[in-house]
Amino acid sequence: MAVGIFDSGLGGLTVLDAVGRRLPEVPFVYFGDNAHAPYGVRDAQDVYELTTAAVERMWEAGCDLVILACNTASAAALRRMQESWIPPEKRVLGVFVPLIEALTERHWGDNSPPREVAVQHVALFATPATVSSRAFQRELAFRAIGVDVEAQACGGVVDAIEDGDLILAEALVRSHVDALKRKMPLPEAAILGCTHYPLMETIFAEALGPEVKVFSQANLVAESLADYLERHPAMVGTGTESVFLTTGDPATVSNRATQFLRRRIEFQAA
Ligand code: DGL
Repeated sequence: MAVGIFDSGLGGLTVLDAVGRRLPEVPFVYFGDNAHAPYGVRDAQDVYELTTAAVERMWEAGCDLVILACNTASAAALRRMQESWIPPEKRVLGVFVPLIEALTERHWGDNSPPREVAVQHVALFATPATVSSRAFQRELAFRAIGVDVEAQACGGVVDAIEDGDLILAEALVRSHVDALKRKMPLPEAAILGCTHYPLMETIFAEALGPEVKVFSQANLVAESLADYLERHPAMVGTGTESVFLTTGDPATVSNRATQFLRRRIEFQAA
């Protein structure tokens, strides 16, 4: 058994890296659905079907707990999965809530009514599917009042990263930041609401300027998982092996992952 980390492709590696550093004793099964990435241009039914198939494969690999390290799946499929699909002895958690708790300065489990918070103008960068789900705004409204969110759907960025074309990814990030700034000239905070985007974090930060605080998920999710496992230690299971699974070509995906994490990663066919 192990804890599963799922993404449509390579983006979840930013989360895997952070959780691996925070919880070095925990074995992780990483699943990248590279053959079907990007999810961000798919409809909710499609994302649901692909995500449930991947999570089922992770149950088979011995996981009792799976983190959807994919905002698109967290936004478009998680609620439906939790309502009717996940067996009682298993858990699937998303990556939105830790981010929103950080933005609204809340501790885990603080279910008090929404209140005013320090930031009032927030830029959200995410995939088209995450933006159109409005899941971020919904979760935020449970916790904060008076926050103006301007969302920018960042078409093309995930494809460029998956293809290893970082020059194109950088150009697209700059143009999406420009488009956002035309709608909201002075955001106080920016949310990188896609796990692929931390791979471009320095470009986002540079294009946004030093006065914008950039929230990125990896470390927040790692802290939140550590806290969860402290409260539910049995969810780790007893396994000792970390495994990387992909629906794409294992050699290509291994090379890209090695380039991004700057350590050798060997994927095998899911
Ligand atoms: N990295 C994912 C996310 O956080 C998915 C991106 C995609 O496949 O479009 O949204």
